[in-house]
Amino acid sequence: MITVSCIKADIGGYVGHSAMHPDILALGQEELEKARQRGLLVDAHASHCGDDLFLIMTHECGENCEEVHRLAWDIFLKGTDAAKKLKLYGAGQDLLADAFAGNIRGLGPGSAEMEIDERPSEPIIVFMADKTSAGSFNLPLYKMFADPFNTAGLVIAETLHQGFTFEIQDVREHLQICLNTPDEAYDALILMGAPSRYAVKRVFTRATNEVAAVSSTDKLSLIAGRYVGKDDPVAVVRCQGHFPAVGEILEPFSTAWMVEGWMRGSHNGPWIPVALKDAATGRFDGPPRVVALGFQLADGKLVGPRDMFDDPSFDNARAEANHIADYLRKHGPFEPHRLPLEEMEYTTMGVIAKKLGPRWQPMA
Ligand code: F6R
Ligand code: MG
Ligand code: MG
Repeated sequence: MITVSCIKADIGGYVGHSAMHPDILALGQEELEKARQRGLLVDAHASHCGDDLFLIMTHECGENCEEVHRLAWDIFLKGTDAAKKLKLYGAGQDLLADAFAGNIRGLGPGSAEMEIDERPSEPIIVFMADKTSAGSFNLPLYKMFADPFNTAGLVIAETLHQGFTFEIQDVREHLQICLNTPDEAYDALILMGAPSRYAVKRVFTRATNEVAAVSSTDKLSLIAGRYVGKDDPVAVVRCQGHFPAVGEILEPFSTAWMVEGWMRGSHNGPWIPVALKDAATGRFDGPPRVVALGFQLADGKLVGPRDMFDDPSFDNARAEANHIADYLRKHGPFEPHRLPLEEMEYTTMGVIAKKLGPRWQPMA
């Protein structure tokens, strides 16, 4: 069995919250390589989206392996030290705990892991997001695994026709539920359609019960109890055979969906699919973006990556995102561009309510 572990954190931005400094990325890759040489990892690849460092690792230690989680934590700590020396912005921003306590979960970084029996050919895609929240993958995952208008295989391929099971977490109550599609699709959608509370953690194929996808559902604001930055989630998706084809897995991103995040984590904005060379954020600290790295696994070795959105067939989605960005930005501080009062990550409401309190009069 091989485990694919993607663990990610924002440990300092260059410039501001826009991108990752090349020294930090290089440090991540070097530390992963050392862990590979001493035999902890089978293979590893460090990558980036916006100001977040993504550690993509394969190993034989299973999910929630203390040594692998400690490795990621230690790399983030070392990276934070390097970020502090360069005075990068928000150094160590996502490291919310003082010390490692056996598992990276609940400490700030996001993680998505799947233990798999590697198939004779094992294509996977790692989606890396910036300036958006855990839960943003709900819509694309639904389309990949449950929408026949997206995934033709659900209708015409015997291997997919039985449908998929969604493991959905209630991130506020720390509960989870498994719902089968297509039969329970409407039940699944009432939950998945509210991604700030319900986030898809895993998807399984009903044909073989194998895991098909996993995403990070760690919510920084719920861990810290206050705004500390956006979750900027990661998802790993297996392709072909009993799973949707590569093209069906990329297809949801031909539309620039609206997600929460963007400036100060307090706005709705279009989620733009970009090539790695465009992974840095810009306008209004965004728009929120997603990069897709494709790999073939070969006995755990990560053959790749291929930069899947470096493709003119996503140009329309990018143009759409820019149109939506123009339109939404005109709303300035008004909803639905700005998030509802209780969902904004930054707010002055408490202070203003106090200041204006005595001036409110009963309506005439
Ligand atoms: C959003 C994000 C940025 C910051 C913004 C203000 O996830 O990271 O939009 O919220 O640049 O940052 P501070 O408060 O650090 O100046
Ligand atoms: Mg940041
Ligand atoms: Mg970020």
